Amino acid sequence: MISKRGEGKKASASVRQTSAESSPEEMAAFFERRLDGYEEHQLLAIQGAQEFYPFTAKLLPAAAGAEVLDLGCGTGLELRYYYAVNAAARLTCIDLSQKMLDVLQKKYAAFSPRTVCGNYFAMDLGRDRYDAAVSVESMHHFTYEEKVFLYRKIFFALRKGGRFVLTDYLEKDPAAERVGQEAKERTIRQYGIADGRLYHIDAPLTAEHEMQALTEAGFERVEEVGRWQNTSILVAYRGCEG
Ligand SMILES: C[S@@+](CC[C@H](N)C(=O)[O-])C[C@H]1O[C@@H](n2cnc3c(N)ncnc32)[C@H](O)[C@@H]1O
Repeated sequence: MISKRGEGKKASASVRQTSAESSPEEMAAFFERRLDGYEEHQLLAIQGAQEFYPFTAKLLPAAAGAEVLDLGCGTGLELRYYYAVNAAARLTCIDLSQKMLDVLQKKYAAFSPRTVCGNYFAMDLGRDRYDAAVSVESMHHFTYEEKVFLYRKIFFALRKGGRFVLTDYLEKDPAAERVGQEAKERTIRQYGIADGRLYHIDAPLTAEHEMQALTEAGFERVEEVGRWQNTSILVAYRGCEG
C-alpha cells in the first residue's frame, strides 16, 4: 500500500492511497512511478511496517525447500525477512510490474526466486502446489466478490495443510469500508474504467469482512494474528494441519 496517508512524511514516494477524488492511475504504472524510494516509504510511512514485515515472515514455513507463492510481491520487501529465516525456501513471485520484479531479481539472485509478470486474477495458480501463499499490501484495491474469486484460486493452489498469510491494509469499521467501496465505484464510472482494467484505487474491507471472504472461498480456519493501526495479518488454513 502506498498512499496519501504517508504524504506528510514523504510526499514524493507516497504510495498508500489513491482517493477516489484524485484521478486514478493504472496499477503497474502507479508503482513504477514511485519505484525510487519505494521500500523506504513502505517501512517508514506505514505505521507498524517495521514489525509486521518480520512478523509475516515468521508465519511462513521454516522447512528447507518449502514452496511459497508471493502474490503482489513488488520488490520483495517481505522476502528480506523470509529469506533470513528460511534461505532454502522456493519462492514463486507474481507481480504486474516487470520493473518491480527486476529489482527483486537483482536483490535476491543468490536465492533464485522464480518471478512471473502478470495479473494474479487472470493467471493459473495451479493445484496442490504450494506449502504457503503470502500477500503483503497488495489486495486492498479489490471488492469482496473479486476477493472470493481470487482466494478460491489460492485455496486450490495450496497443498492440504497449507496456509495463506494475508498482511494488508484493512478498514476499521463497516461504514468506512462502505465509503471506500462507493467512492471506488464512483471513480470507475466517472473515468469509464473498463472491466478487468486494474487501477490503483484503495478500497479496503474490514478484517471481519475479509475473513468472511476467505471462509467463503473454502478456507477451513481463518485467524487474525496481528493488527497495527490499519494493517492486519490474517492466516487462512486449507485443511486441518495448520
Ligand atoms: C504496495 S505494493 C506491495 C509490494 C510488496 N508485497 C511489499 O509489501 O512491499 C503492491 C504490489 O501489488 C502488485 N499488484 C497489485 N495488483 C496486482 C494484480 N492483480 N496482480 C499482480 N500484482 C498486483 C503491484 O504491482 C505492486 O507491486
